[in-house]
Amino acid sequence: MIEYNILCIDDALDTRIFELSDPVEQSEYQNVEIYVYKKMINDVIELSFYVFMPKDRNNIKKFINDIIELYTFNRSDSVEKLPFFDIIFVDNVLGDNERGYRDLIPRLYEITPFVPIVLYTAEIDKVHNEIWQAKEPFWQYVSHFRKSRDKNKPSVVMQDDQIIKVIENNYKESPVDIDHLKKADEFSDSYDDTEEKYLATRVYFKQEEEEIRNFLEKTKKSNGGELNILELGCGTGRLSGMLAEYGEVTAIDFSSGMLNKAKNKLKGRNINLKRMPAEYIGDFLGRDKKFDVIIAAFGFLSYVNTYRTLEGISKVLKDKGFLFISVYNYDSIAFDLIKKGSDLTLAAVPIRELGLLRVANKIDFRAYCFKIDELESLLSSYGFQKECLMTFPVCSVSAKANQFDEKNLWHLDLQISKALRNRGHYILGWFRKVNRQAQ
Ligand SMILES: C[S@@+](CC[C@H](N)C(=O)[O-])C[C@H]1O[C@@H](n2cnc3c(N)ncnc32)[C@H](O)[C@@H]1O
Repeated sequence: MIEYNILCIDDALDTRIFELSDPVEQSEYQNVEIYVYKKMINDVIELSFYVFMPKDRNNIKKFINDIIELYTFNRSDSVEKLPFFDIIFVDNVLGDNERGYRDLIPRLYEITPFVPIVLYTAEIDKVHNEIWQAKEPFWQYVSHFRKSRDKNKPSVVMQDDQIIKVIENNYKESPVDIDHLKKADEFSDSYDDTEEKYLATRVYFKQEEEEIRNFLEKTKKSNGGELNILELGCGTGRLSGMLAEYGEVTAIDFSSGMLNKAKNKLKGRNINLKRMPAEYIGDFLGRDKKFDVIIAAFGFLSYVNTYRTLEGISKVLKDKGFLFISVYNYDSIAFDLIKKGSDLTLAAVPIRELGLLRVANKIDFRAYCFKIDELESLLSSYGFQKECLMTFPVCSVSAKANQFDEKNLWHLDLQISKALRNRGHYILGWFRKVNRQAQ
């Protein structure tokens, strides 16, 4: 079942636009009323419409700020039910004035910058000339439709199948693999069980967190204050809360399933969660303030369009800023053992020849595992110099859960991993942005 979430911003419950029947849920938040409608299409697709309406029509600015606050956790008590969206519709009353367009749409892009926005407006020319031409990257995916002025005619301007087409075309045209995105959504429900289930993952997470903490501690001191941190592919927010101890955190992921888990986990924390493919960070982030540190943890760089993402990282990271990366290691001892027929209980097994990663024995993700030298030379071509790099773990990958004292195993594994330098399951460490040498 594919689920698409649709945000409609309206000043009246104009259900004719989408031929909706009664809402399944109705709630209120400050200045905002929220109605939720659901529709099944051929038992394959579920469309959920979230209609947001301002209670006070004259105070659009407040309305806009309240919507943004719902997503940025400043007041998070009612936020957990709201999903991230695949398409946004804005009705004309908010839109047919400059203030509506100028204020609302750029701010909506703060939540979810790469989805199409459909405007209902009778003043296309004005909007086009005054706003579309504004040369901001916001406008590149926006479409617009003329709304019928005749109140007696039904004003359905987009049928469900058209909506689905716009969403799917948007994904197709973007560098994002829609199949990959849906798998990440599917995996989001069981993602947090991985740590519990797999010893090697648990041991790895400890070491990864220690590496990140130590480095951020040092960097924050030498920076003389809070760091501006960007986390790429934050998943269910495993690291985001810890990162927020060192400064202001913007955390992005392209999967609404993962982000919704993160939203719940990080309730009450002031973390800026955005739905965005990493390939777009260079287009949408860092325009006001660049980042001191970027974190791309737990295989993240293995899943993305590496070249586009590294371009973006390079653009939004400050000069001399730091990048943390952890990726699957092709030279991992565990893969050799697996090739020789060992039945290791690993959470993820990369099949580099096919460019796949088999997760939890069932979901094949498109993913790439690197060799340590390959990673260093790729990053160096984007102007990143190695600060410190290690591989870990070596021996936990062949240990069965409950057979070992985990604390001792971790220390032992650390020593062995250091001695064997490049045979650990992950490559993890820090790079510093210097000058770009070559492409
Ligand atoms: C293995 S998880 C790691 C999650 C988190 N960093 C952690 O350490 O627990 C990889 C995450 O990257 C996200 N992801 C994969 N490709 C992406 C892309 N192109 N843009 C943004 N997020 C992406 C997935 O949705 C998933 O949440």
